[in-house]
Amino acid sequence: MNLKLINIKSLGGVHKEGTKWLRGADLAHFPTIENAYLIIKEGKISSFGPMSNCPQDELPIQNCSGQHVMPAFVDSHSHLVYAGTREEEFNLRLQGASYEEIAAAGGGILNSAKKVGQASIKELVIQADYRLQNLMRYGTGTVEVKSGYGLDPDNELKILRAIKSLNVQTNATIIPTFLAAHAMPNWAKEQGMNDASYTKFMLDRCLPIIMKEGLAQYLDGFVERDYFKLDALQYIIDASASSGLPLKIHVNQFYDIGGIEMAVAAQALSVDHLEVMTPKAMKALHGGNTIATLLPSCSYFLGIPYGPARDLIENDTIVSLATDYNPGSSPGGNMQLICNMACAKMKMTPEEALNAATLNGAAALNLSDRKGSIAVGKDADLLITKAIPSLEYLCYDFGTNHIQTTILDGHTQ
Ligand code: NIG
Ligand code: FE
Repeated sequence: MNLKLINIKSLGGVHKEGTKWLRGADLAHFPTIENAYLIIKEGKISSFGPMSNCPQDELPIQNCSGQHVMPAFVDSHSHLVYAGTREEEFNLRLQGASYEEIAAAGGGILNSAKKVGQASIKELVIQADYRLQNLMRYGTGTVEVKSGYGLDPDNELKILRAIKSLNVQTNATIIPTFLAAHAMPNWAKEQGMNDASYTKFMLDRCLPIIMKEGLAQYLDGFVERDYFKLDALQYIIDASASSGLPLKIHVNQFYDIGGIEMAVAAQALSVDHLEVMTPKAMKALHGGNTIATLLPSCSYFLGIPYGPARDLIENDTIVSLATDYNPGSSPGGNMQLICNMACAKMKMTPEEALNAATLNGAAALNLSDRKGSIAVGKDADLLITKAIPSLEYLCYDFGTNHIQTTILDGHTQ
């Protein structure tokens, strides 16, 4: 599709061509052009700049006067494909039960796995598509989606195939991740497996099929004291080395067991959660290229600490923001709200939050060359706001949708 957006009040996320990610002081600047135009040709950004330079060519025109335009959000951590919901567990937590206690009693991830076991691929796609449509209306253009509610080879592959179908039918970009170790299912315990042997079993059984069918681009595991420990992580690291699928690891949500140091040593693309950090874990991330993906809505919903965004930024770590959209710890995927939480609860500035939710999200999926900023040749994945005072306003006035239109791959949604 070809389109010329004119009279844009401000065009944001205009980073220098070739910028892969932003860290330290660079994160603090979300560059904008006031009173701008942007031209889309064949789904790509073909040119942009101040209105005074706007070419007079014969393209369909959209007048954006009073509106702002920026790159669509890149949500680099979600569990969008699941079956059913878990509001009864939310209620239990409100009455005093902890997330861990609910999980130990067969709720939590096991509860969702039961529901996934009963669902067909088609049902999974229908439910996930409903959520995805909403996310797109809220300005998200790219979503990483993990498996992890199958907990046996057939059901994990079922989720990954559902993710693939979802990707085929949408203009959003869906990036699949194989979450090989999310919770120990009862069948594995009954067979005498432990967290490490179960992880190895899942990797051995699933990866050959995943690679043959192209079902995943990343590997993940839930590295925690009460879930999967360092021996299990080692199997995931080995599988990453042999398959070539980079690592994105859930780690340091409740306890620090040394997972960040190991993941960084294995050159993980990202380490996600990080609500509980220690000086050693911080040191491992210092100045490196492993991205710290923070998930403020998980902290909000579970009432656990927020990731130390300020310390990480000062630590010269690349920080990205994502939703963790899932039925247990973050049943919501509104990236505008994520930016608000990052500011209000983690003391990120609005400009830092917008960068972390776009270009650094793209970097956390190795997609910076295509997504996350306004640059010639990048995918025309854009959000157009309603008439609001500024782009920073997205991080300020929370709870309502400030997006008028999302353009994905050049198509208006
Ligand atoms: O990222 N932490 C592990 N997994 C999900 C929650 C899973 C669930 O409760 O269903 C998360 O928060
Ligand atoms: Fe998660």
